[in-house]
Amino acid sequence: VNVFAISGSLQRRSTNTDLLRVAALVAPEGSEVIRFAALGDVPGFNPDLEEGPVPWAVAELRKGLAAADAVLIATPEYAHGMPGVLKNALDWVVGSAELYGKPVAVLCASPRPDGGARAREWLTQTLAAQGAVTVSSSTVQVRRPTDQEGLTDASVTAAVTSVVRKLLDAANAGSA
Ligand SMILES: Cc1cc2nc3c(=O)[nH]c(=O)nc-3n(C[C@H](O)[C@H](O)[C@H](O)COP(=O)(O)O)c2cc1C
Repeated sequence: VNVFAISGSLQRRSTNTDLLRVAALVAPEGSEVIRFAALGDVPGFNPDLEEGPVPWAVAELRKGLAAADAVLIATPEYAHGMPGVLKNALDWVVGSAELYGKPVAVLCASPRPDGGARAREWLTQTLAAQGAVTVSSSTVQVRRPTDQEGLTDASVTAAVTSVVRKLLDAANAGSA
């Protein structure tokens, strides 16, 4: 099972990107978590640009999503919404429809136990508009690590493991 993972944070030391690293570590044999590394290179969406060859970062995004059996998105909340860079990237795949029918799990790393609920809600709506199926949406409380502390926090690992399992179950059920 091929899981394409997108972090909504461009921050170098991002707790959301950390969650995706944990997901890659806990993914069971036979599954692979591949992280999209070019979110910051995706230009502002413009339908005019869809007529020719699309910008390389958009091509990478579309290729990764097309090859995926499932998608994992971990995102911060900014000003009660998902980050603009994430929404922008999703706008690029409305017309090309790579998300259509795909199981998606949504994670939000926040220092607060209830942080990011609005971003998750908005993201879930955007995914539904694109025909994706959100199988799980949860906030994971992560204190900003001083030295990768978040990665060794047992409660974070347990939460991410449970979400990865749900996502893989949904992907397997869809392909059965
Ligand atoms: C400009 C800015 C706005 C934010 N707005 C919100 C918000 O509206 N709601 C929320 O729960 N957290 C908010 N946060 C906190 C971040 O979502 C939180 O720190 C998150 O864990 C950062 O993720 P990252 O480590 O992956 O970059 C905001 C942070 C910044 C920098």
